[in-house]
Amino acid sequence: MEQEREEKISSENEPPYLSLSRFTNPAEVKKELEGKEVWMKGWLQDVRNLGSIAFLLMRDNFMLYQATIIKKMNKSLFKEVTSIPRESVLAVKGTLQFSEKVMNGFEILVNDCRLISRAQVPLPLGVADKVDADMDTRFDNRFLDLRKPEISAIFRIRSTLVQAIRDTLLKEGFLEVHTPKIVATATEGGTELFPIEYFEKDAYLNQSPQLYKQMLMATGFDKVFEIAPAFRAEKHHTSHHLNEFISVDVEVAFAEMRDVTSLLEKVIKNIYKEVLNKNEKEIETLKLHREEIEDVSSASFPNITYTECLDILQKKGFKIEWGEDLSAEATKIVAKEFEHFYFITDWPTKIKPFYVLPKKEVPELCHAFDLMYKEEELTSGAQRVHNYELLKKRLEEKGLNSENFSSYLKPFKYGIPYHSGWGLGVERTLMVLTDKKNIRECTLFPRDRYRLEP
Ligand code: AMO
Repeated sequence: MEQEREEKISSENEPPYLSLSRFTNPAEVKKELEGKEVWMKGWLQDVRNLGSIAFLLMRDNFMLYQATIIKKMNKSLFKEVTSIPRESVLAVKGTLQFSEKVMNGFEILVNDCRLISRAQVPLPLGVADKVDADMDTRFDNRFLDLRKPEISAIFRIRSTLVQAIRDTLLKEGFLEVHTPKIVATATEGGTELFPIEYFEKDAYLNQSPQLYKQMLMATGFDKVFEIAPAFRAEKHHTSHHLNEFISVDVEVAFAEMRDVTSLLEKVIKNIYKEVLNKNEKEIETLKLHREEIEDVSSASFPNITYTECLDILQKKGFKIEWGEDLSAEATKIVAKEFEHFYFITDWPTKIKPFYVLPKKEVPELCHAFDLMYKEEELTSGAQRVHNYELLKKRLEEKGLNSENFSSYLKPFKYGIPYHSGWGLGVERTLMVLTDKKNIRECTLFPRDRYRLEP
């Protein structure tokens, strides 16, 4: 008997658990199962051994539950189970008992157990401990970090967010597309590119699908979107920049700027609505304010022009020359005027990329916008230049060699509608939605200046 038990408990390399009768998921536990024998699996979060009785705190994907083991029922089982290290994966068998006094209203009175995977001791990062580990330790051990409900909740919300975007756009008649991430030229100008070896040629990781989504406007696909990684070789190490992030890119033919800002507003509100509908538990775990989420989902987003921002700044004694970009400090001051989301429009042409359309009557200004949440920029977008000659001129004015852009420019010579679009950062949006102060919290495995692993 002793021998047999030993074998069962330590058989972690075989799959005996596959031949076990059906497992019960703690989320499926219902009163009708009272007194029934079930198998349940999960991580052993903690063991409280009181000598004659021990309480195993088990955790699965959704909840914590208690498994109770009584020494006199099976001494050897009691001894072995109570010595299993924390965070090991177990399957426990026993009868289900319901009681108001225990966590989640039920416990399982254990009479058998399988050790599926033993955790080594010590853990490189505590899972249940209240002490805050530093960011590096957390990200070095992200698999353990993600076992914490307050961390995994962020990614459950992220999944809702991405699905809400996709659902909204598909409902609006968009086509989902995928464009290359290995490219020959810069998209946004600038030098923020990761070079890679591509056989005998130089190539780069794409910064944005900008050029491709615009080229698609010449094909007859008149509403496209893409949700994919974008790579930026930005050296600065800040709390809101990543070197790889997920960009939601939208491009719409026969659309002016107003058409795509109202689409964007709809997308954001639907994200907030869906999170309210689907993530009640995560809202609670993350201690988010439901009313604030409700407020965004129903409010309309105000608009301010770049020049009006300068007026506000001046009144507050903060000087920015017309034509200069708004610094982080300046944006903080402007943000105080708004409750949450707002658009900044009518930007100076010279600080926006070459593909942004200048205004006909006032070419120093352009049809560009940013969507802000307080001081955080979540989206930039614009109506684009669709005139071939003007586009070539704009490239050259930006100091770029138009020959390097010949495959991008070609569609503009053979019939292309006017068009507008935007790019929305998934991690920045998630960051404001979950009230996180560091963008790394909103990506499973962040890529920043100093982190390439895991
Ligand atoms: P832009 O460069 O402003 O515009 O990027 C669009 C949005 O992407 C997010 N973002 C980032 N998120 C994390 N880390 C970064 N380093 C980072 N850089 C950008 C932000 C930002 O608002 N082609 C244009 C879009 C367009 O006009 O359609 C573009 O890429 O949320």
